[in-house]
Amino acid sequence: MATLLLYPELLAAIFLCLLFLCHWRWSKTRTITNWPLVGMLPGLLQNRLNIHEYLTWHLQRNGGTFEFKGPWFTDTNIVVTSDPMNLHHICSKNFSNYPKGPEFQEIFDVLGDGILNSDHDSWRYQRKLLQTFLKDNKFKLFFEEVVKGKVEKGLIPILDHVSSLGIEVDLQDIFQRFTFDSICLMVLGHDPNCLSIEFPEVAHFKAFDEVEEGLLYRHFVPERWWKLQRKLQIGSEKKLSHAMKVLDEFIYECISTKREELLTIKKEELKFNLLTAIVMEHQEGEMSSNITKSNKFLRDTTANLLAAGKDTISAALTWFFWLVATHPSVEAKILEEIKEHLLDNRKSKDLNIDELSKLVYLHGAICESLRLFSPVTLSLKCSVQSDILPSGHSIRPNTRILNYFYAMGRMESIWGEDCLDFKPERWISKRGEIVHVPSFKFIVFNAGPRSCLGKDMTFIQIKIIASAILWNYRVQVVESHPISPNTSILLQMKHGLKVRITKRFV
Ligand code: HEM
Repeated sequence: MATLLLYPELLAAIFLCLLFLCHWRWSKTRTITNWPLVGMLPGLLQNRLNIHEYLTWHLQRNGGTFEFKGPWFTDTNIVVTSDPMNLHHICSKNFSNYPKGPEFQEIFDVLGDGILNSDHDSWRYQRKLLQTFLKDNKFKLFFEEVVKGKVEKGLIPILDHVSSLGIEVDLQDIFQRFTFDSICLMVLGHDPNCLSIEFPEVAHFKAFDEVEEGLLYRHFVPERWWKLQRKLQIGSEKKLSHAMKVLDEFIYECISTKREELLTIKKEELKFNLLTAIVMEHQEGEMSSNITKSNKFLRDTTANLLAAGKDTISAALTWFFWLVATHPSVEAKILEEIKEHLLDNRKSKDLNIDELSKLVYLHGAICESLRLFSPVTLSLKCSVQSDILPSGHSIRPNTRILNYFYAMGRMESIWGEDCLDFKPERWISKRGEIVHVPSFKFIVFNAGPRSCLGKDMTFIQIKIIASAILWNYRVQVVESHPISPNTSILLQMKHGLKVRITKRFV
């Protein structure tokens, strides 16, 4: 060893040979190299720009589960899985052993103590509360009115405008504006009017994107590092704090306006939205004595609902429209189906929820697009006690587990050899009904007691928007435009979706 130290060139040559051997072994076996000291981090960093494909490939090669080893002494090992039986076990069968855990709660501090960020009794209470409101008929009617109103007064005028000018437009941006306006209306009773021909810059709309960027960064750097940055208010943490402040100001202002409204307007005259419903519940219910303290509760609850419903639906819409625009035979079948249900020359926006539920092929196309491009790419859990997963992997207490949704939609073992093809027919039975796939296989909306509370809402919203656009306009993707997913937890298109729009009926 001492001789080697005398010849640094020899040491460097040996190091290079080792590097070459490791790379050669990796390219032959395609297993992630576990380097001394730095673990599997170099491979992850090298592939950070196509991280979803990279992890999916390794999951396929490793039977759906592998342990990612982080750098030594950093406590960043993590079990990554896309095995349906593991997911069934983690999300349902042994649910109580796999809460989100304290690390999740620290990273997602912007969500406060809201439903997405809580465990145990607090989660249970909020889930029951929200379930009551979201299932209420009043909410369903209000929701339909909001979405249809936005289509008529926001979406159609913009698409008419860009089609008359013949200009390219970013459909993803339009969908993000649409979903932000509609979720703010549903949750806060306030319309930020982001969806308008002027494409206005709205501070809290932008702040949401900045928060998502900042949270992603926290996943990649060691915890100590981002916490230090937060303490010193430098780098991405400074930007994140500012964005969180903008968001908080917006939400707290909506809460105080709502409280004033409740004091001045008669109960019967109040317009329905979730914030009003929750405040009323608090005033009339057992928590009335805590009313003055509950601004934080209202902030957390509404912030969580905005986060849950904003970019999830816009991401789903963007990938759906890209797939349909690039698969003309699918588009033709959807149009045929809409035509069948548009008796007496009504406009597509007049289809009510019951009629929309009859659009089976459209439903299949939406499921297929969600399968291939799961808007929520992953979910993090942390074990309480030791356990053995159905795949045979041992779990120690405090093991971090990453349920990797993106890969699940692309596993040959689940969907067959044509798993990468866009085939809405996959979802339709011989009798013309939707094929039921258990949620631990079609994991897009999570499975078990923590499954998504907005699933039905999502399908209805996408169907209303999809039928309105496809029936009235041709959407053509700009040829040279690059299409690739970003590297975020929410699967947006990295460069947006540039399209040209033309009217079908002039
Ligand atoms: C394409 C659209 C959507 C997708 C793909 C989706 C997906 C998901 C997923 C994967 C989870 C589990 C997250 C986790 O625990 O880590 C979840 C939870 C949740 N979602 Fe959605 N979601 C969508 C739309 C919505 C909408 C529109 C709402 C309503 C505002 C909503 C409300 C919720 C709520 C409240 C939870 C928390 C459930 C709980 O922890 O008990 N989601 N969603």
